[in-house]
Amino acid sequence: MLGELSVTGPTRISINDTRFLWLIHARRRSAVTDNIDSKAETILRDNDRGGFTVPTAGLYPYQWNWDSIFVSLGFATFDESRAVKEIETLFEAQWDDGFLPHIVFRRDDPDYFPGPGAWDARSAFSTSGITQPPVAASAINDLWKASADDGIKSRLAALFPKVVAWHRWFHKYRVPGDANAVVITHPWESGRDNSPEWDAASANIDISGVKPYKRRDLEHADPHMRPTKLDYDRYMALVEFGREAGWDHEVIATQGPFRVADVGMTMILLRATRDLAELAGNLGHLDTKTELEGYIEQLEKGAQYLWDDARKTFCSRDTITGAHSGYVSSASFLYGYADVGDAEQRQKMAAHWERIGKASRYMVPSHDPDETLFDHMRYWRGPIWIVINYMVWRGFAERGWNERAERIRRDSADLIRAYGFNEAFSPVTGAGTGGKDFSWTAAMWLAWCGKDNRPATE
Ligand code: DGY
Repeated sequence: MLGELSVTGPTRISINDTRFLWLIHARRRSAVTDNIDSKAETILRDNDRGGFTVPTAGLYPYQWNWDSIFVSLGFATFDESRAVKEIETLFEAQWDDGFLPHIVFRRDDPDYFPGPGAWDARSAFSTSGITQPPVAASAINDLWKASADDGIKSRLAALFPKVVAWHRWFHKYRVPGDANAVVITHPWESGRDNSPEWDAASANIDISGVKPYKRRDLEHADPHMRPTKLDYDRYMALVEFGREAGWDHEVIATQGPFRVADVGMTMILLRATRDLAELAGNLGHLDTKTELEGYIEQLEKGAQYLWDDARKTFCSRDTITGAHSGYVSSASFLYGYADVGDAEQRQKMAAHWERIGKASRYMVPSHDPDETLFDHMRYWRGPIWIVINYMVWRGFAERGWNERAERIRRDSADLIRAYGFNEAFSPVTGAGTGGKDFSWTAAMWLAWCGKDNRPATE
């Protein structure tokens, strides 16, 4: 328990000497912070399986796409080469058409279901057949700009065409011209697996043919913190649909039973494309930069497709029915990270922030606490995810919304300091939910909220 860490410092002081008190406080704070830093490093090293990192032992025993990218930012704080390696191993599993899978299975592990056999997605590597939020370009661009080492920079430059290929894959299959937003074909692609945003769109998934299966996640985490059986039946129906389609992404994107334009994926891809275009310029790939600028324009239109004028929020939208989810989720606040929204939209989002900020002890809940489906301990139906906090913070800090940015950074650091490196946290009590010793939470502590520095704009 981080709360039980011992601290050092003199114990007898004059209570009138406030300067002395301050020094002791600073010294205690830095001793605690040092201990937490080393615990975070230990988590990353312990979850390292040799060039790739598992999100947490037991519950998630393989390499996950966006987990690895956030983890690379953590490694970069003490081992730049290992940070790049994490991204290189992820891209080893890229398919010929540019697709980057959400899980890379390097071996079969009975701890996890659905494993490689259930996906049956054949490529050079055994992988899943769906993707995940494309945060890679942003991390690669950050690492490239931060590095002073030519060897590291050239390894990152070698990843550039691979990331471009993945972004082209999105635009070929997942950014339809009528929506211009990123369409997911499985809730797991969003990374926000059981968000209420998917409930209405999932209701039409036919689960009558789902074959019997045994969940493994419930052996590692409290069932009240995990998706329900109905959610899982739907997840498996979609895996079976993809497998029967031979993971033909054209078929899945045009005929799949679940096709939702995701606010999280769209904001993240838009931001990633801005970062990739910057990297393209720095690397001298000017034609590619122009191509990426076209993608940016398209995704900016996509963000508007996701504006729900009735609920006055950016949210996900079912492309089959055209219905908005109508929910303000933590992903809605990524509008700053993507740098979208006109003055009125930004003002409405700021009002949601105020309202939710009053209702939540800690920010940013994954689901709106004023909604009936809010559940402060159940996975993506309420709990706080530090990686989303990082992206929301970054967007707010870059836009100069410093007070809001600072609240996110402070709440994130307080949660980790008080409750440990959990998978997620209750916005009501702060208690940890899901897995423990989580790699991306440790990485975000090291790379972001645990650092003593202030937001960039302050
Ligand atoms: C799971 O198994 O819970 C994962 O989120 C799927 O990616």
